[in-house]
Amino acid sequence: MKVFHNITALQAFLNASTSVGFVPTMGSLHQGHLSLIKNAIAQNDTVVVSIYVNPTQFDNSADLEKYPRDLTQDVALIETLGSNKIVVFAPSTQEIYNTNITSKPYNFDGLEHQMEGKFRAGHFDGVGTIVKKLFDIVKPQKAYFGEKDFQQLQIIKKLVEKEQLNIKIIPCSIFRENDGLAMSSRNQRLTKVHREVAPFIYKTLQEAKKQFGTKSATKVTTWVYQQFESNPLLDLEYFTIANEANLKTVVRKQKNAKYRAFIAVFAEEIRLIDNIEL
Ligand code: PAF
Repeated sequence: MKVFHNITALQAFLNASTSVGFVPTMGSLHQGHLSLIKNAIAQNDTVVVSIYVNPTQFDNSADLEKYPRDLTQDVALIETLGSNKIVVFAPSTQEIYNTNITSKPYNFDGLEHQMEGKFRAGHFDGVGTIVKKLFDIVKPQKAYFGEKDFQQLQIIKKLVEKEQLNIKIIPCSIFRENDGLAMSSRNQRLTKVHREVAPFIYKTLQEAKKQFGTKSATKVTTWVYQQFESNPLLDLEYFTIANEANLKTVVRKQKNAKYRAFIAVFAEEIRLIDNIEL
């Protein structure tokens, strides 16, 4: 499989492609990423998988430092798909940012201030900056994003709308372990005991979904906070039930609105997020 580290070489290669699908990643790939790549293979002649740990989206330098990086292992995992449509783009920070490692301030119409935005200062400016840069480099017709980062997905759609980019954003369902834990590159950093208890997050979301059928968002939210109080191994950062379109917390349920429950939990210093359609 071709692995490009250089923008000019990647673009020269892509010149010959009729349709390009793009799967941006930060590496440390798992089955969830492979499911995005499989979708892209089915819909495009060429699939670019970028592998780049973007420094500007980390609000915590220890988290950036500890983020797992293993290009050889990632490429080997992609190769198990046995497709000759895929190329990998694994640039250096110099190639992406030159010497100016900063993010652009974005206005995503308030989407950036909800949930993750409240707890991770500057995170979505960093995501917007890198995704716009990668879109400009790869120039895909379609780009694939997982619903596990649902807020990110909505923000990328807003980026495409605001920058008037001719790119179709394809949302892909959350991929889960057999015990329900949402797949994440961070799961491999969990201790044995935290890995054992982590499925509690999705179980709680499922129960919250059931309760939301008959109870108010406030009642369900209070119940979720109580569940985590009695679970000393998991530290709930936030749980909220929000409108899918604007990501604002529900005050009163409305008939035609679509709602989703969102959660962020610390298992020691490992931060896990998940969400469920209600
Ligand atoms: O979801 C991710 O892995 C990252 O936020 C992304 C979209 C690759 C940008 O760095």
